[in-house]
Amino acid sequence: MFIDTHCHISNEYYDDIDKVIEEDKKAGIEKIIISGCEETEIETTIDYINKYDIAYATIGYHPSEADNVSDEDINKLEKKIVNNKKIVGVGEIGLDYYYGKENIDKQKVLFEKQLSLAEKLKLPVVIHSRDATKDIIEILSKYDVTGVIHCFSGSLETANIFISMGYKLGIGGVLTFKNSKLYQVIEKIDLSNIVLETDSPYLTPEPYRGKTNSSKYISFIAKKIAEIKNISIEEVSVKTLENTYNVFDLN
Ligand code: NI
Repeated sequence: MFIDTHCHISNEYYDDIDKVIEEDKKAGIEKIIISGCEETEIETTIDYINKYDIAYATIGYHPSEADNVSDEDINKLEKKIVNNKKIVGVGEIGLDYYYGKENIDKQKVLFEKQLSLAEKLKLPVVIHSRDATKDIIEILSKYDVTGVIHCFSGSLETANIFISMGYKLGIGGVLTFKNSKLYQVIEKIDLSNIVLETDSPYLTPEPYRGKTNSSKYISFIAKKIAEIKNISIEEVSVKTLENTYNVFDLN
């Protein structure tokens, strides 16, 4: 059994979401955590967790929304979170300098407001960090929160910093890509620091790279971790489930 700790679900990507969920269940997916991180996606995500028993969510505003989110939006976000037990964290939130640094200050303000919210609600956070590691670490260290570093693909040194701060690393399809150096990190860190995620519909693992991703492909990521660490896939399953339950209250 597996839990996909990070995926996106929408009619934009899938024709028949009932079928996607059925296939996930058949593939041994115990639960999925949908990340709703833009205004409309937040609404549809809440619909899906109300509809599907295996679906939980984290909601929060992605750094790409930094120019659009008001304090009123953050208040509404808080109400949505406290009103639904299946919303188990704040995210994905963070900093993204890949597309440019024009609005760095706005990104930081939005990020910190949501970290404060997570701290207040005592919920884990899901962190989006792209070309912004130094600032992410500096800001996270100011807040009494932990959670998951989504789609981790940094160095061993960076991995160890996040681990020492109490974070788990979200490991996905990138690990299976031929040119990825992420295996060098996975080799060296303890399995207790890893949770599995697909980030579907993106980042489909090999051998399906290029197709639309979904949670059912998560076993290819687990298999790769098992190979790298020379352990069984069952061990990866058991341990990553345990790690996931340590971060998220999935009841
Ligand atoms: Ni995502």
